[in-house]
Amino acid sequence: MAQPQNRVFSGVQPTGNLHLGNYLGAIRKFVALQESHECIYCVVDLHAVTAQLVQENLKNQTREIAAAFIASGIDPQKHIVFNQSQVKEHAELAWLFNCVARMGWLQRMTQFKDKAGKNAQNASVGLFSYPNLMAADILLYRATHVPVGDDQKQHLELTREIAGKFNHDFGVQIKQYGHGEEGYFPITEPIIEGPATRVMSLRNGSGKMSKSEPSDMSRINLTDSADDIAKKIRKAKTDPAPLPETMEELTERPEARNLIGIYAALAEQPPQSVLSEFAGQQFGTFKPALAELAVEKLAPINAEMRKLMDDTAHIDSILADGSDRARIIAQETMREVREIFGFLG
Ligand code: TYM
Repeated sequence: MAQPQNRVFSGVQPTGNLHLGNYLGAIRKFVALQESHECIYCVVDLHAVTAQLVQENLKNQTREIAAAFIASGIDPQKHIVFNQSQVKEHAELAWLFNCVARMGWLQRMTQFKDKAGKNAQNASVGLFSYPNLMAADILLYRATHVPVGDDQKQHLELTREIAGKFNHDFGVQIKQYGHGEEGYFPITEPIIEGPATRVMSLRNGSGKMSKSEPSDMSRINLTDSADDIAKKIRKAKTDPAPLPETMEELTERPEARNLIGIYAALAEQPPQSVLSEFAGQQFGTFKPALAELAVEKLAPINAEMRKLMDDTAHIDSILADGSDRARIIAQETMREVREIFGFLG
């Protein structure tokens, strides 16, 4: 199979509470890339069981992410939308990458340290080797570009390291099977850009907005009603000073900087032009404007998600069809990878 030139892959975990950070940091970029790239978007349900073994209603959580993709504007006919566990090759390649990746590489992963906390000895082996599965997701499709939020940067560096080691260590076999000098797996480029690569919690400007934060007031969920969105923004932590003229003056004001970043991302404007509009104003004026903008942008997605979730058979058929199409590519890669490894049969 020839190396594709502009193939995008990305994934979202079905662990509940899909939020504005997921939307601005990832899903909205997924939508934009459809114009220029061949895109594969995955609900990564195998990843969802690494941190918490038993997931409440995993099937519906999986459908909800697919519904969010489609409601945001991803076209599952032109591109591929599927869930990871329906394509068994993800697990197969992840196993082989367990043998490519080095312990030291994984021990450096800050997200494992954050998620495992003090009790690392009791974390699942799956949580530790999670980045190898993520590399398998991407490289199974030999994707060239991966749009993600800033928190996935280190995992993508690891994906590049795995691809590099595989290409290097199997260099002779790769050439023998007719692949070019550049190796078999691409050295994937992350796409991490824009004002919302790291949306912070509404309650604490130094912690990121997250699905697992216990306080629901810390995030805007894609399923929140207009009233909830307005209430959460009204109660968002800020400081008493008025908004300044320049972004530099927000360096020491993380909560204010976060809200300006959210506004800028939603309005698709540079943060500086948002400040030019609101300089000198208090949060009492800015917050209602932000709430209005957020509701305007999110309400149609919310309504479409609800509609899609009312017809689960339809979502299931989209995911089954996407999985069938993903599997064709995945099986071809695995056939070649097995040859390169030298497995019999
Ligand atoms: P997940 O499910 O935690 O998040 C999905 C996407 O949302 C981004 N994101 C954010 N962006 C900005 N601000 C935030 N506060 C914020 N929180 C989350 C994430 O960076 C991500 O892009 N490991 C991945 C899922 C994954 C994956 C992959 C991604 C599995 N395999 C292959 C890309 C390619 C994860 O846990 O994302």
